[in-house]
Formats: sequence, structure tokens, C-alpha cells
Amino acid sequence: MLATADIIEDGHAVNLAWHDGGTARFHAVWLRDNAPDDHTRSPVNGQKLITVLDIPADVRIAAVRVADAGGLTVHFAPENKTVEYSGQWLRKNAYDLTRTDPRGWTPPAIIRWGAELATAIPSAPYSGLKAGDGVLADWLAAIDRYGFATAHGMPVESGALLELVALFGYVRETNYGRWFEVRTEADPVNLAYTGLGLQAHTDNPYRDPVPTLQVLACLENTAEGGESVVVDGFRAVELLRRENSGAFDLLSGHPARFTYAGTAGVRLSAKRPMIELGPDGELIAVRFNNRSAAPLVDIPYDHMADYYAAYRALAAVIERPDLAVTFKLQPGQAFIVDNTRVLHARTAYTGSGRRWLQGCYADKDGLRSTLARLTGDTKRMEAAE
Ligand code: FE2
Repeated sequence: MLATADIIEDGHAVNLAWHDGGTARFHAVWLRDNAPDDHTRSPVNGQKLITVLDIPADVRIAAVRVADAGGLTVHFAPENKTVEYSGQWLRKNAYDLTRTDPRGWTPPAIIRWGAELATAIPSAPYSGLKAGDGVLADWLAAIDRYGFATAHGMPVESGALLELVALFGYVRETNYGRWFEVRTEADPVNLAYTGLGLQAHTDNPYRDPVPTLQVLACLENTAEGGESVVVDGFRAVELLRRENSGAFDLLSGHPARFTYAGTAGVRLSAKRPMIELGPDGELIAVRFNNRSAAPLVDIPYDHMADYYAAYRALAAVIERPDLAVTFKLQPGQAFIVDNTRVLHARTAYTGSGRRWLQGCYADKDGLRSTLARLTGDTKRMEAAE
């Protein structure tokens, strides 16, 4: 509920105060752009009907009034247009904030983790996920929060992982197909298809955009070794920033290069930083994959030695045992990772047994859309507009 509204800055802004003591300023142009009336925003689909050029460059607030219900009525000049806003909506969308987040910040919903997650891995039975609603919503929320979850009780059938993805989104098809087999092959097109151990990595950094989710489902795992390891890249980056801010700056301030050309007819390459920050310093993504690293050519000579030291420092943090969650997938189990955040590794495997996993990619937009639908989280929906 709004308490007061005062025009400031010659009508170019308004200062609002709520009954609970909160205050925030809003610009006239921002309010006009976000007017909820039917001529500004479609009542059918919520999409905006005007462009920024439809807003008069000299838009001003000629009059304001706090309505009896605690909302705000604004009269705009020179359009001579009156618009009503919900006081609650204005509070939720206030941007007049003092921001003190360090570079590499993440939203409050993100929970960074280390080895301690091993005793509390978010997991759900496939039957529960298929039933939808609460179990599925909790599982998707966990993936959103931790970037990692497992599922169990899946059919031990080839292609079952596609049905898991269909519960929340869409498979991202690539040159590896709609899904790919992860088992030892004679002449592998990728080192994943051998018994070699694999350093913790994110998948396919040579794609742009990178697949944002990966699913790996187990059909057989009687081999000795072949355990799965996951590491929270956001935790690793946070530790690097705290312990070695120069390394953090180098890896977030210069692009790396990644490439893959192991299959006939495929030439993939991408130029992206290992630590990707948004313009406001938010940690967006981690890319880390030694197998697909291409020559680094975008770092000035004077910084290259330090860049490599930074790369080594990040790799060393990622290797720390207190960051690793290790588990052995059993037939009917699958795990899903946020491939922009959580690295996965595999211990080497040998012996007479067999290890057969299937993997596929998907994307977070579908997951978050389904999560928002299931939880009625309108903030996510508004953000998606
Ligand atoms: Fe991988």
C-alpha cells in the first residue's frame, strides 16, 4: 500500500513512499513505458504494444495521486494520458536501490555447494516426476538452485532420457544426435567414448549458444571405476575471486576459444570467456574444458603468462576434493546439470564390466518456464516478457 507520492525533478520523476517505510523514485519515462493499460500492453498475451519511439521524448508527470486502495494514478504530459499502477507491483519492480554486489554475484536463489552436498543430493523418483505437480516442481526448483539433481527409477531402456527431458522442456539436438551413447568405442570421435578419466568440465563450450542443460542416464554400470563427479563451478569461481582476484579478473576479462572438429563435416568454434559476467557483474556462466580448448589468441602478449597462471589457479580450485560430489550411477538413474554452472567429471574405468550411459542436451528456458507454471511464479513470467 502506497502512502505518499511526490513529483520531483520537474516532473521527470516521482518519489513514492509505502506504509511500511520503504521509498523509491521512478522516472516518468520508465512509468510510461511500463504502463499496464490496454493500449500499452496487450490484455490478451501481455506483450507490449508500443515501442520506445512511441513515448514522447519530453514525457513528464503532470499530476500524481495515491488512490484509496494504495495504488498510484499518474497523469502524463504531453500525451494527456492517465494510468493506474498497483502499489505492490511498483514495490516489486523498484530499481532505485543501492547495489553493493561484488563482481561475480548471483541471485539469492542460487545456492553454492561443495562436497557436503553428497549427503543431500536433490533426487526424485521418475514415477513422481511423471505425476507432475509437487515432485516435479521441487526437482526443477532444485536444479534451478543447485544446478544439479538426480532421478531414479527410470526405465532401463534406450532413449528413456528423452522422456525425462519432455517432462520439463525440449531436447537440444546437435551433431551428436538427439542423444548420444557414452560407452567405449574402438575409434571414438570424442574422448568421452573411451575408458579414460575425464577432468571436470562443462560440455560443448565450442557451441554458441552452449547447451544449458545436460542429462546423463545410466543403462549399465558394472565396470570398475567410472564414477561420476560434479563440481559447482559457481563455488569454484567464488573461491577464486576471494583468493586471487587478479586471476578472476583475467579469466572474466578475456575471451577464451574452444573448438571441435572430431567428426567429419563438423567444424565448431566459439569465442567466450571461461568466467562470463553480465554487464552488471552477475556471474552468468563458467566454461571449462581442456579437451576442446583452442589456441588462446585474444589475450595480449603482456597478459598471457598471467592468464595461464589464472587458468591454472582455477583448475586447481576445481580439483579440490572438498568441492567434489562423487557418486556412481546405477541403471535407471540419471543426473542433470546446469551446463553453464556445474562441471562434471568421470573417473577412469577398466575391468571386465561394462559402462553404458546415454546423454542429451536441453535448455534452461524450458525448465524455468515449466517451473514458473507449476509454482505460479509470476515474477519469472514477467521477467520473460
Ligand atoms: Fe561431458
